[in-house]
Formats: sequence, structure tokens, C-alpha cells
Amino acid sequence: MWFVLTSPLLVLSFALPQASAHPQRTHHHRLATPRAEPVAAAWYAGWHATDGFLLSDVSWDKYNTLIYSFLETTPDVHNLSLNGSEPSVFPQFVSEAHKHGVAAHVALGGWTASRWFSSNVATADNRTAFVKAVTDFCRQYDVDGVNIDWEYPNSQGTGCNTISPNDTQNFLAFLQELRKDPVGAKLTISAATSILPFIDATGSHSTDVTGFAEVFDYITVMNYDVFGPWSAAVGPNAPLNDTCAPPDDQVGSAVTAVKAWTAAGMPLNKIVLGVAAYGHSF
Ligand SMILES: *[C@@H]1O[C@H](CO)[C@@H](O)[C@H](O)[C@H]1NC(C)=O
Ligand SMILES: *[C@@H]1O[C@H](CO)[C@@H](O)[C@H](O)[C@H]1NC(C)=O
Ligand SMILES: *[C@@H]1O[C@H](CO)[C@@H](O)[C@H](O)[C@H]1NC(C)=O
Ligand SMILES: *[C@@H]1O[C@H](CO)[C@@H](O)[C@H](O)[C@H]1NC(C)=O
Ligand SMILES: *[C@@H]1O[C@H](CO)[C@@H](O)[C@H](O)[C@H]1NC(C)=O
Repeated sequence: MWFVLTSPLLVLSFALPQASAHPQRTHHHRLATPRAEPVAAAWYAGWHATDGFLLSDVSWDKYNTLIYSFLETTPDVHNLSLNGSEPSVFPQFVSEAHKHGVAAHVALGGWTASRWFSSNVATADNRTAFVKAVTDFCRQYDVDGVNIDWEYPNSQGTGCNTISPNDTQNFLAFLQELRKDPVGAKLTISAATSILPFIDATGSHSTDVTGFAEVFDYITVMNYDVFGPWSAAVGPNAPLNDTCAPPDDQVGSAVTAVKAWTAAGMPLNKIVLGVAAYGHSF
């Protein structure tokens, strides 16, 4: 059951370091993100920004990218909201990141805020409006990249998301339009994904993600919360290999993720492994 990959517990962790292969696409960032280097990123939990983990607690020198979580989708395709994540801290986040030579990204969506992705990308008009909402936000706050965390296209997440069989194709059409926008063309665009590729209109995991490989700089695979107290069996939070769990309980791993995404056409050098910096008790 793939839903366990991103249970709400995910959002309790505020820094999930990632290590990766080498994204090959070069953008002309105002901030020279060192593209020859692996992506070294962490998600910063905006909702802990004044209580728990302050900006001053960030080890900026360990990263070339920090991702502020979460910018939320709203019922109005023209609007995005930082409401749940200390909006007043966000401009400071961007300027602190830049001061340290770190690219400032924003995570859009997440477990609780993916509710309106499907309707936002459902029609050509909505995609155009959503592109404008995202690029306006990035321009307004001088953001270097967007990590799109739609949980999940054509697969229900938190329970009340809008959803359509066409989600994955509409998502791609949205991303293609975002890339055509002069602001969008310069952004580093990534997606936080499940272990297996997006569900397509047939209801199965996509076997061809080459279109996505063209528009994403990289994907960040959420290989954590694979097992936790919600699971029927005890298992590793972030398994390197399926064999980390007993044969009957295996539900995926980093090895499975890399196999599935590369088999579907995502180049190895565009896959960043999400690594948990925390564990679960059972
Ligand atoms: C969207 O933004 C506009 C302009 O800021 C505002 O008037 C409207 O209430 C917002 N809609 C929602 C659903 O928040
Ligand atoms: C932000 O939160 C306030 C208070 O909870 C609410 O009234 C407002 O509609 C929210 N705005 C958006 C865009 O979600
Ligand atoms: C387009 O977006 C609006 C919200 O701004 C929404 O009400 C509408 O349902 C969306 N269209 C579709 C087909 O989902
Ligand atoms: C899905 O897209 C096809 C065209 O590609 C369209 O005919 C169909 O109505 C769409 N389905 C939904 C549920 O929007
Ligand atoms: C994963 O497990 C399989 C089966 O035991 C093994 O062949 C493979 O080498 C393992 N991969 C890694 C990265 O440990």
C-alpha cells in the first residue's frame, strides 16, 4: 500500500537530507547553483519556523538547496497560500539562503495541501492561471526553484483531494506550460514522488515518464515512512532494499524506486534519494 510512504508523520520531520547523482540540466540561476555537484537539499518546516527549528538553526554550509515547506494549493486556482507555514518567515528564509549561497526553493503541496492540484490543472484555462500563480509567487519572493509535492496524481492521498483519471497527463501539460513561461524556464523544478511512478489514466503506475524527465530538473523520491506504527508489520522507515523487510511485508525501497523510475525513462542523474533523518517507534 503506497499511501504509507507519505503519512502525515512525514511532516513532523523538518530536515530530510538528500544525496543524489548529478542533475545535468543547467539553468542560468541568478544564484549559481553548482550543477556539477550532487543535490544536497533539505526540507525546512515553515510551521516550526518560530517554534522548534529556527532559521538560525539551519546548517547552511551543508546544503546547496533548502526547500521551504509548504506553499499550499487553494480552492482558487489564482491563489497559493503559505498560511500554515509562517508566511512572515518566508522572505527571511530566501534572503538567508542567498546570503549563504544556497538556492531557495519552495515545496508546493504536501500531504495536507495537495487538495486542489487536480482541479488546478484540469483545463487549459486553469493550467494557465496556475502557471501564473506559481511564477508570480516565485518572482515576488525571488525563489530559485519549486519542489512540487502532489500527493498524488490520480491516487487519493489525505482523503479529500480533488482527483481525476487525467491527473498525470494534465500535470505534464501544466509543467510543459510552466517551462514555456520566461520565469518558469529559469526555475529549478523538481517533484517529491512516491517510490513508483505517477498513476496514469489506466490506473497503473506510468511506464513512460520521459515527458516528465524533460521538464523536471530532478525528482526527490520519498523513500521514507515506508514502515511506521501504522504498518501491520515492523519494518524499516527508509529501506535501502526490499530485502530489508521480510518477503511478505515488502512494500518498496530505494532499490525499487531507482529501478521503477529509470525503467520508465527517468535518467539516473535526475533521481535524488530522499533520506530520513529520523526514525519511528513501534
Ligand atoms: C484569492 O485572492 C484574492 C485576491 O487576493 C482574494 O480576494 C480571494 O479571497 C482569494 N481566494 C481565496 C479562496 O482565498
Ligand atoms: C489563511 O488563514 C486565514 C485564517 O485561518 C483564513 O481566513 C484565510 O482564508 C486563509 N487564506 C487562504 C488563502 O487559505
Ligand atoms: C478550475 O479552477 C476553479 C478554481 O479556481 C475551479 O472552481 C474549477 O472547478 C476548476 N476546473 C475544473 C474542471 O476542475
Ligand atoms: C480526460 O481527457 C480526455 C481527453 O484526453 C477527455 O476526453 C476526458 O473527458 C477527460 N476525462 C476527465 C474525467 O476529465
Ligand atoms: C538488493 O537485494 C537484491 C536481492 O537480495 C540484491 O541482489 C541486490 O544486490 C541488493 N541491492 C543493494 C543495493 O543492496
